[in-house]
Amino acid sequence: MASENFFDKKQPWSKVKDKVVSGYLEPYCAKLLFTGKPLKIVDCFAGKGKFDDGEEGSPLMIAKVIRNILKNETSYKNKNIEACFIEKKYHDDLKNNLLYFSQCRVISGNFEENISEILKKNKKEETSLFLYIDPYGIKSLSFKIFNKLKNMDTISTEILMNFNSFGFLREGFRLISHDIPTDLLESNYEIDGKNSISRMNEIANGIYWQKIIKDKNSNKITMYEAEEIFIQEYTSQLKTVYNYVINIPIKEKRNRLPKYRLIFGTNHYEGLFLMVENMKKSWTLFLDSTNDHSLFDEFELPEYNIGKINLEEVILNLITKNNRISLRDLLIKLIDMHGISFSISQYKDVLVKLSGESKSSLGGLFADNKIQIIREYKTPTGKEPRDLDWNNKIYIERV
Ligand SMILES: C[S@@+](CC[C@H](N)C(=O)[O-])C[C@H]1O[C@@H](n2cnc3c(N)ncnc32)[C@H](O)[C@@H]1O
Repeated sequence: MASENFFDKKQPWSKVKDKVVSGYLEPYCAKLLFTGKPLKIVDCFAGKGKFDDGEEGSPLMIAKVIRNILKNETSYKNKNIEACFIEKKYHDDLKNNLLYFSQCRVISGNFEENISEILKKNKKEETSLFLYIDPYGIKSLSFKIFNKLKNMDTISTEILMNFNSFGFLREGFRLISHDIPTDLLESNYEIDGKNSISRMNEIANGIYWQKIIKDKNSNKITMYEAEEIFIQEYTSQLKTVYNYVINIPIKEKRNRLPKYRLIFGTNHYEGLFLMVENMKKSWTLFLDSTNDHSLFDEFELPEYNIGKINLEEVILNLITKNNRISLRDLLIKLIDMHGISFSISQYKDVLVKLSGESKSSLGGLFADNKIQIIREYKTPTGKEPRDLDWNNKIYIERV
């Protein structure tokens, strides 16, 4: 589908993306507003607001999250929240579609120019910015923008980005070998005649991608491996900006190559945990409630392959003898390995089982007490703490 027809009808892959955005934003806003600081959500490639078939686009989803916060009389003391929607082409449609929503501002123009302006304006306040980056292809994603984010000391940012690794490689092959492999010959991708090798270096923040393409061309690696290696390298670039980066491959079943990768970057472990917990929940709810079975037929959802993973074994391997690890660090390591395949609650259940703490549960009865959970803090009532709250001083040790 060419980009001119993008808004005719919302496609299944856009619906998958929406689940992630909407699942995360509500708990994220609640958490951030609780700190008392201003919060800005920037939809950097906003679109029309609504698809021509009536389905909502990201701007309406975001505007509704804000409306619910403003309407809520009890839960939010701090309502200093605003959304900016940057849109180059469909800004008039977007303004119309957002007419009845407050604290929502449409910026007509380019992401590249306006994002710097937004950062400059918010510099004085201790603002939290959530950037949703959903372009058609990769051409507007110069890494310079992320480097700019790295150097902001008063603004804390998080990004959720639809990164078209497929499209990047396609452009890469076109530019380096003048030949696009059949795996990448797909009509659903916006072709961008203006790209150049130096522009691709700027997007990738390095030249590593060129070697990947050469290795594929000399059959050292498969296309599937090329995409994996590329995204690992790109993720390590983003890890120079954010402490925690996870990527979620959105795969079509008929094709092993991900259609795109959703990349989430944050400097706060709480943001990371929130994303993992909520994404897992949204997928499960989505699977239970959706009537749109075409999505299951077409997409391989993130938990598809986890049947083969023995979580108890994985966790035990991460806790070396005589070397305790904090619960927080253990969760971070697990997420680094498995992305959003498991929820935080699933990890906690395994920990409880391995420690034998939950004797009343079947898992507890058969547990071998392989680990010990050490809680180095007191509860306000003086009772023995039993929780697994990552903000508390909790350590895990092998026994
Ligand atoms: C994939 S669509 C966004 C869809 C939207 N997230 C939704 O859920 O409805 C990308 C949008 O970015 C706009 N666009 C393209 N290049 C842009 C740029 N450099 N700056 C701002 N907007 C741009 C396009 O006009 C298009 O509306």
